[in-house]
Formats: sequence, C-alpha cells, structure tokens
Amino acid sequence: MSFEDLTIGLIGAGNMSRSLVRGLLRAGHPAIRLQVADPDPAQLEQVGALHASVGIHGDNTEVAESADVLVLAVKPQLMASVARQLASGARPRGQLILSVAAGITLGSLRHWFGPDTPLVRIMPNQPATIGAGISGLAASATVGAREREIAQYIAAATGQAVWLPDETLMDAVTAVSGSGPAYFYLLMEHMERAAIELGLSPELAAALTRETALGAARVVIETRAEPAALRSAVTSPGGTTAAALRVFTAASLDAIVLEALTAARDRSAELGRSPPGT
Ligand SMILES: NC(=O)c1ccc[n+]([C@@H]2O[C@H](COP(=O)([O-])OP(=O)(O)OC[C@H]3O[C@@H](n4cnc5c(N)ncnc54)[C@H](OP(=O)(O)O)[C@@H]3O)[C@@H](O)[C@H]2O)c1
Repeated sequence: MSFEDLTIGLIGAGNMSRSLVRGLLRAGHPAIRLQVADPDPAQLEQVGALHASVGIHGDNTEVAESADVLVLAVKPQLMASVARQLASGARPRGQLILSVAAGITLGSLRHWFGPDTPLVRIMPNQPATIGAGISGLAASATVGAREREIAQYIAAATGQAVWLPDETLMDAVTAVSGSGPAYFYLLMEHMERAAIELGLSPELAAALTRETALGAARVVIETRAEPAALRSAVTSPGGTTAAALRVFTAASLDAIVLEALTAARDRSAELGRSPPGT
C-alpha cells in the first residue's frame, strides 16, 4: 500500500486541518481519501471549497470508522471530550492517531486511546498555511517504522518535518518554531512603526520592512551561512548598522530573547502537565 492509498481522517476543520488538507492535495494525495469532520457547517464548507471530492462530515465517528490514519486537529481544551468520544467508538484495528494540539502529551493521548494505540504528536506552526511550516514530531513506543513514515508524509505536506529524540523537547520546539512566527511579526510591527516615526509613509514602511524580512530569511536559507556571519558581513565598523546593533546589545537583546523563549517553554510544559478535561 502506498501512502496515496491511505484514507486520512481529520477531526476538526479549522485552520490547521485546512492547512493539512491543502498540503496533502498539493502533494498529490487523492481528494477522495481525505475525510474531514467538524460540527460547524461553515468550517466544513471551507474545506469543501478546497476540493469538491474531499469528504466532509458533521459526525466525527463516521470519519474515525473509515480512516487508516486519524489526525486530531481540534483546540486543546476540546481534546479530552473528542478523544473520549472517538475512543469509545468503532475504529479500524491499529489505526494510527496523530495530534497537532499544543500541550496535549502522548501520555494524555495514551490515557484516552489505550497503551497499544500508535500515537504521534506533531507541533506545527502557522506558516503551514502556505506550505512553509516546520513541525516537530514525537512518537509513542508503539509506533513502528512505517507509521513514522506515514506521520512524516502527513506533516511534511505543510513544510519541513523533524523528529525529536524525546517528547520532553516538544516544549522547547513550541517555544522556538510553534510560537516563533509571532516573534518575527512583533519585530516587523516595531520596525514598521519606527520607520513611520522616521518619516516614511505607512506603505513604504511596510514594503521596506516586509521585503527586508523575506530577503534576510531567504539569504540565510539559500546561502546556508550562519546568521552571525551574515550580520558581520553587513556591519562596517563605525557604520549605520553598527550604530543600530549597539542599541540592541545595550538593551541585552540576547537575554530578552532567552527569557522570552524560556517563558514560552515553561508555559508549554505547564499546559502539558494539566491538560484540560483529563
Ligand atoms: N493554527 C496554528 O498555527 C497551529 C499551530 C500549532 C498547533 N495548532 C493546533 O492545531 C489545533 C487546531 O488549531 P486551529 O488553529 O486549526 O483551530 P481552529 O481553527 O479553531 O480549528 C478547530 C476546529 O475544530 C472544530 N471543532 C470543535 N469541536 C469539535 C468537535 N467536537 N469535533 C470536531 N471538530 C470540532 C472547531 O469548530 P468550531 O469553530 O465550531 O469551534 C474548529 O473548526 C489546536 O489544537 C492547536 O493547538 C495550531
């Protein structure tokens, strides 16, 4: 059986679910083998708009009964009730279950679905929407080589997919790439505001900031050079960039970034220790 033959069921038809459906369709997965459940007809309609042959269902159990792989893509606070409903219903033997819910541990999933169920936890990020995401993956001990390949196939439909040696690193992944897009957006917001303060029009401030962010990210990826080396290459002694960087350094930007990521990591661990509804 090739991966294209797998029926992939998605529970929840929100943003992340639609990113996965979009990515899988782009990767050539047959639309007819994508089945999505959500109680909200408006959300289902948005999935239906991606491709007429994607199956849409108001009943989660309908999808769970027919799927080879089940992807849980509901909000973390709904996960306990959704998982209990699915666990008590009929599902194919050995069905692989993937969860993209932030803070929901493999331990909680094992508690709901039983110790023999193959489980993979995935932490995607928002650029998944355009196929430019990166996901961290962690598997339960019950997951075999082929199941890992299937999880990789599904996660990679929204961008890069990297396996973690240990689930405890998921909190750090959440702090870096899960929450990371917001840090870059924040810097862009501040740069645009500062650019306006310096007399540029909002349009010009936005264009200059956004294209610079895109250009810098592309240079890092395409040249594979270290960010520190690239920074050094554009910083002449006594020049304009050096003047700006001195301000960042004086404000201890490195310590601020470490403190921010540590706060995100700790909050992720805290949420994972007390998943709602367990
Ligand atoms: N979006 C991201 O960038 C991102 C990044 C990393 C991880 N995640 C994870 O992905 C998961 C989904 O996030 P999202 O942004 O896609 O949220 P979302 O847009 O709110 O999607 C969740 C969907 O699940 C539906 N739903 C609610 N109750 C349900 C039920 N009982 N059965 C089936 N579906 C139900 C919701 O319907 P209603 O609208 O009617 O409530 C909604 O359509 C979350 O657990 C989140 O932690 C998301």
